[in-house]
Amino acid sequence: MTITLITGADKGIGFETARELGQQGQHILVGARDRTRGQAAVDRLRADGCTADLVLLDVTKDDTITAAAEQISRDYGALTILINNAGVAFDRHQPASTMPVSTMRQDFDVNFFGLVAVTQAMIPLLKKGTPARIINVSSNMGSLTLASDPTSRYYGVSSLGYQASKAAANFATVCFSKELAAAGITVNAINPGYTDTEFGGSRGGEQTVAEGAAQIVKAATAANFGTGTFTETAGKLPW
Ligand SMILES: NC(=O)c1ccc[n+]([C@@H]2O[C@H](COP(=O)([O-])OP(=O)(O)OC[C@H]3O[C@@H](n4cnc5c(N)ncnc54)[C@H](OP(=O)(O)O)[C@@H]3O)[C@@H](O)[C@H]2O)c1
Repeated sequence: MTITLITGADKGIGFETARELGQQGQHILVGARDRTRGQAAVDRLRADGCTADLVLLDVTKDDTITAAAEQISRDYGALTILINNAGVAFDRHQPASTMPVSTMRQDFDVNFFGLVAVTQAMIPLLKKGTPARIINVSSNMGSLTLASDPTSRYYGVSSLGYQASKAAANFATVCFSKELAAAGITVNAINPGYTDTEFGGSRGGEQTVAEGAAQIVKAATAANFGTGTFTETAGKLPW
């Protein structure tokens, strides 16, 4: 059985990814920091024909990460897929010169340190579930190449906390992919694209959650997806 943990799976792209992978037969562990929202997501997944359980998990809280790993070890003994989807953007497109460092720290806490902490805690379980996959939900806004290309639509974007935290998540993808290749664990970064969720919708997301989940679902199911890549549905992205 494929056991798949998705962080931030109670709504948005994470929930849609859970629904699609669950309907393809994967057993879904709904990572959620709020028990009520998480259980509601589990109930909706079960109603949609999936098997799913709740894993309480705030990616910024070490005690919940440890408890989540212990729960998965006790109940399943291994993990096949980890999808680091939980993400935030506390900054609101303001110049780097005036963006509070405290705001940027909040972005990094979830988007980078949380991703790394959850990954480290789950590696022993993923090693028992090989061939295993880690999928990091990143953003094209974290691409240094696009941000510095005057012809890119992201050239004029200034959201240093979010962008730098996603660039750091991309770097974690590269580092973990190299370290874990010999252990049979692939690690890839995905850009879901500008999606109509609570996160993206408030800024006017351009695509549905199904479109946002598509490349993540592909990375979680395709044979020979590769490792150490940064992609979106349209193809390869520059780091
Ligand atoms: N939507 C877009 O346009 C877009 C574009 C590019 C990349 N992305 C990335 O896609 C991912 C999913 O975004 P989304 O659009 O689906 O956003 P969303 O609807 O706001 O969902 C974000 C999820 O992250 C969870 N989360 C936030 N902080 C957390 C924490 N400390 N611990 C655990 N979970 C936490 C939220 O949980 P709560 O319900 O408890 O708040 C929620 O489940 C993010 O990594 C985002 O950066 C989104």
